[in-house]
Parts: sequence; C-alpha cells; structure tokens
Amino acid sequence: MTINIKKCTLEDSRKLQEISYETFNETFKHQNSPENMNAYLERAFNLKQLENSSQFFFVFFNNEGAGYLKVNTNDAQSEEMGDESLEIERIYIKNKFQKHGLGKYLLNKAMEIAMERNKKKIWLGVWEKNENAIAFYKKMGFVQTGAHSFYMGDEEQMDFILTKTFI
Ligand SMILES: CC(C)(COP(=O)(O)OP(=O)(O)OC[C@H]1O[C@@H](n2cnc3c(N)ncnc32)[C@H](O)[C@@H]1OP(=O)(O)O)[C@@H](O)C(=O)NCCC(=O)NCCS
Repeated sequence: MTINIKKCTLEDSRKLQEISYETFNETFKHQNSPENMNAYLERAFNLKQLENSSQFFFVFFNNEGAGYLKVNTNDAQSEEMGDESLEIERIYIKNKFQKHGLGKYLLNKAMEIAMERNKKKIWLGVWEKNENAIAFYKKMGFVQTGAHSFYMGDEEQMDFILTKTFI
C-alpha cells in the first residue's frame, strides 16, 4: 500500500475538475436537489476558479487518484481570518478510498504548509449536516469556533467553522 501526493499545476485543471465533480456528487447528492447541486457546481468548480492562485494537491493510493486538497492563505481565504491562518477549503477522498488514512495524510500536508509559513491556526467551514466530516475533523483536534451561512443553489445552508490552533 503506497500513498503519494502531487502538487497540481495548470495542466492538471481538467483532472482536478473531474475529481472535484465526482467527490462532490458522491458526498452531497443524496442530501441536495439536482438543481441546487448543478447551480453550486457551476459556480464552485469552473476551470477559471480552479486555475486561481490557491494550492491544490492530488493524493494517490497505489498510484490511483484517490482525492484532493485545496488550501488558501492570506487574501485567498474565503473569510477574513488574517495572515496567521490557513484555510482548508476542500479535502475530498473518493468513497472507495475513505478510512484508509488518506484524509489524515492530506490534513497533515495542510499542517506542514501552515507551519512552514509560520501560521498559528488552520480553519475550515463544514456543512452542519456533514456528520462524517465533522467527526473526522473533531478526531483530528479541530473545535468549533463559529458558523456562517452559504448558498447551495437557492437554498441557504449553515457551515460550522472549525479551527485547530498550534501550540
Ligand atoms: C472526511 C474525509 C476527508 C475523511 O477522510 P478519510 O480518509 O476517510 O479519513 P482517515 O482514514 O484519514 O481517518 C483519520 C482518522 O479519523 C477517523 N475518522 C474518519 N472518519 C470518521 C468518522 N466518520 N467518524 C469518526 N472518526 C472518523 C478515523 O478513524 C481515523 O482515526 P485514527 O487516526 O485514530 O485511525 C473523507 O471521509 C471524505 O472525503 N469525505 C467526503 C468529502 C467531505 O465531506 N469532505 C469534507 C468537506 S468539508
């Protein structure tokens, strides 16, 4: 069993878009209407956005693409959290590769980047109904520090803000 990570470049945009769609659908389609899903996917995963300056990484399990990570710092963060924070905007593992330690591996990668850049904390927003992800983050030492609303199509939904502060 081998786990590898690769930083995405512009040439990876198409692959990144494919895995983004696949994992987003797997995660949320049973809890959201197709119309709202499509509206959100159009907005959140168009190629232009993927080509912006934040960092993306693919994770491979036995050389098969298994998931990806998106981290933002400074002004790229989706909330004004300041320059001492790093945001995990997306961390997605395909269903069939979950519970093999890949989520933890990507989270550790985000921690490594945060520490290299002298950040003091990592934060993220997670849908209040995404119990699986919330349990994972809590296991990894995150605590809830806030909440904000966002739109999935025309439906207003609530995200919990979870934070892990470095000692
Ligand atoms: C949430 C997610 C990233 C977790 O990744 P994963 O690869 O399945 O998790 P790991 O195997 O790395 O688990 C790491 C630890 O968390 C624990 N864990 C994982 N999921 C858990 C859950 N649902 N409940 C309790 N603990 C959980 C594991 O038991 C493991 O504990 P250990 O370190 O003591 O062995 C993954 O399930 C996923 O991509 N889900 C769908 C997309 C999603 O919701 N992303 C988050 C959007 S905000």
